[in-house]
Amino acid sequence: MNDYKLPSLRQAARRSKEVVIEDNLFVLPEELKTLGKGKKYFIRTHGCQANERDSETISGILNDMGYTAADDASEADLILINTCAIRENAELKVLGEFGFFKEYKRRNPDLLLAMAGCMAQEEKTVEEILRKYPQVDLIFGTHNIYRLPLLLERAVREKKRVVEVYSKQGEVIENLPASRALSHKAWVNIMYGCDKFCTYCIVPYTRGKERSRRMGEIVEEVRQLKEAGYKEVTLLGQNVNAYGLDLGMESGFAQLLEEVAKTEIPRIRFTTPHPRNFDEEAVAMLAKYPNIMPSFHLPVQSGSNRVLKAMNRSYTRETYLDLFDRIKKTVPGASFTTDIIVGFPNETEEEFLETLSLYDYCAFDNAFTFIFSPRAGTPAAKIEDLTPREVKEDRLRRLNEKVVYYAKKHNLEYQDRIVEVLTDGPSKKRSDIYAGYTKENKLVNFQGKDLRPGDLVQVKITECHNFSLNGVAIEKD
Ligand code: 5AD
Ligand code: SF4
Repeated sequence: MNDYKLPSLRQAARRSKEVVIEDNLFVLPEELKTLGKGKKYFIRTHGCQANERDSETISGILNDMGYTAADDASEADLILINTCAIRENAELKVLGEFGFFKEYKRRNPDLLLAMAGCMAQEEKTVEEILRKYPQVDLIFGTHNIYRLPLLLERAVREKKRVVEVYSKQGEVIENLPASRALSHKAWVNIMYGCDKFCTYCIVPYTRGKERSRRMGEIVEEVRQLKEAGYKEVTLLGQNVNAYGLDLGMESGFAQLLEEVAKTEIPRIRFTTPHPRNFDEEAVAMLAKYPNIMPSFHLPVQSGSNRVLKAMNRSYTRETYLDLFDRIKKTVPGASFTTDIIVGFPNETEEEFLETLSLYDYCAFDNAFTFIFSPRAGTPAAKIEDLTPREVKEDRLRRLNEKVVYYAKKHNLEYQDRIVEVLTDGPSKKRSDIYAGYTKENKLVNFQGKDLRPGDLVQVKITECHNFSLNGVAIEKD
């Protein structure tokens, strides 16, 4: 008999109003602070920024346990894959990696292979891993990260497979360690989970209910980041503008934005807002402080009211466009990006054309576009879908033509302009070419001298490509 704690999507779908904030849940017993001594770990992260941020927490925990980061998976004693379940191809990539790392295990039988993230929350996936991927030693879910020291200890000392996935709504767990990937830009969680239950989406099942961190804690984190020299924070949540609703706040997101802006950290971004929860106060706040960046990711998913309803998006084409117009009017010159799904079950040609016409209206700066991918356990996966795959692929191609058209059109407007760029660092190929982003979140590759990540520089744009700009840093006198 094993003592696996397996996931259950049904349990994960429950929702209660209770908010639990845990300040002392993470403990690292003295004897585990040296468990990783002399050992190296390698983390591969898939998916969204929530996973990126979780990987920083996992790194922080591993560092506290005496592990050090490996530059390459081949030299690691622990390989951890932080997985994404949003679409089938994301999952197939991960399964392929488990196949690839099997070879590493043959060479080093002491190597531990671990799986974290959203795929670990899916019962079907975990069943499959248990059946077909014996090389995976440790599986833990998105709610179990704080338990990593104890789970690793069991896997290392008892040399047996460990599976622990809680399928719960989740609490807010504070005071976890973190080893941040960058020293000039940081992700800051403001809330976790999602209660929207869009019919195609697995996230409400894998990440629990919407729950917000206390405002004071978030603002303090940003203040400390600023003190440590960080230039940009991105406020993170599945639905950032539902921030504070669970804590009984009104217009919580607007309040939070204001408090974060007052820290005077130079650049503030946020992702992802849901059009439904974007209230007037939040729209007004976008223009009130210059350190709130004029770049907004506002997922629309479809331009058809029939499809939006079937997706349970809880807004219409008209209300989306009204919000879009209001933000655009409030923040002139802002850039807009979006997410779109084509081929939602039985989407018709006319409905798809409505998506294209919405795209023309909004003329987005860029978009993430996807073909609908049925996720087991979600309502949309149960709909009998009569649209052939080729039709969906053709729609994606036609949509992507528009994406490129408008991306290029917007980028061309930057020719000869002088823009502020936050330097990320030198490019991999040439040390005198740097990469960074404008306030509108445009990628710029530019010539410069002796720059460091985090330097804010004025750059003159000399060339415009579809998805990036070239330029030259203007020397200060
Ligand atoms: N199929 C295709 N795309 C999806 N997304 C979420 N779930 C699915 C799915 N089942 C897309 C949505 C979302 C983005 C993060 O991923 O566009 O905004
Ligand atoms: Fe998924 Fe919809 Fe929640 Fe976004 S709002 S995470 S698409 S359920």
